[in-house]
Amino acid sequence: MDSNKRPESMERITTPVLAQAFIDEQLKTLREQIGDRKVLLALSGGVDSSVVAALLIKAVGKQLVCVHVNHGLLRKGEPEQVVQVFRDEMDANLVYVDATDRFLDKLAGVEEPEEKRKIIGGEFIRVFEEEARKLSGIDFLAQGTIYPDILESGNVKAHHNVGGLPEDLQFELVEPIKLLFKDEVRVVGRALGLPSGMVDRQPFPGPGLGVRCTGAITRDRLEAVRESDAILREEFAKNGLEGKVWQYFTVVPDFKSTGIKEGKRSFEWPVIIRAVNTVDAMTATVENIPFELMQHIVERITSEVKGINRVLYDFTPKPTGTIEWE
Ligand code: XMP
Repeated sequence: MDSNKRPESMERITTPVLAQAFIDEQLKTLREQIGDRKVLLALSGGVDSSVVAALLIKAVGKQLVCVHVNHGLLRKGEPEQVVQVFRDEMDANLVYVDATDRFLDKLAGVEEPEEKRKIIGGEFIRVFEEEARKLSGIDFLAQGTIYPDILESGNVKAHHNVGGLPEDLQFELVEPIKLLFKDEVRVVGRALGLPSGMVDRQPFPGPGLGVRCTGAITRDRLEAVRESDAILREEFAKNGLEGKVWQYFTVVPDFKSTGIKEGKRSFEWPVIIRAVNTVDAMTATVENIPFELMQHIVERITSEVKGINRVLYDFTPKPTGTIEWE
């Protein structure tokens, strides 16, 4: 039987009871496969790698070593949440690597989107490889591969998984959720006790905020993306839009416009808000955000985020625009 093919008889995991049955079966399989050996996992804090981490912590405890690489392009509060949930609450063996300076130095002055992606992906593999070499006796590499990744090989996830490791670090793979669809991964994550902020989160690209700080990334503009994104997420959550809108975020482009702040002329960046709905990310429609909420968000971003004097809303469906700006 092809282990990468979902059997037709496999029931869709839609309830906590079905999720628990899946978890029990996986724990048994993982314990059999791993025995008393060690497993390594690149834990981004996204839904898939978090669910794999939670399963492995339950199955083999401290034999799992999680490596969380902070590339400096994560959303506000994300690295802290990974450390809190996995190290403090689940008592995981977690290596936290703050590689912000390394990534931002490499990206300095690089304008071309694909070049930026290549640098982020390549550097991620190098940092992960360095950490893997510091550890001894690892036999397995766990990955948060899910069924759509197998169905659409060459998909976006290939950008940020660790498939590019050198020959001598080609561990045996452990992929416990590879036959699950995203909605099933979320049901399993909930049954494993992961917080909703982790399980129900919107998709977030591997290159992170790097594709939302257009052109050459600078630290000040990156900070403006991070802070404006945090405000947008907070307001969407407060106003019942979290979980209703498929993906929403802010972009800070690399151009400035004139404005007035505290009676003086300002020459600063705009923030662009993007909020879209889609089924498969191949096409997308724009969310209709209530005008008053929009005004409130504009007010908050222009007064709270440094370097911003204007807020724009991107009304473009996909096509012709892509969801991300780069
Ligand atoms: P686009 O911009 O192509 O995005 O309409 C479709 C979906 O894919 C996500 N995306 C990425 N995810 N690495 C990822 O892991 C990437 O390089 C990447 N680029 C886009 C995007 O956020 C959206 O959900």
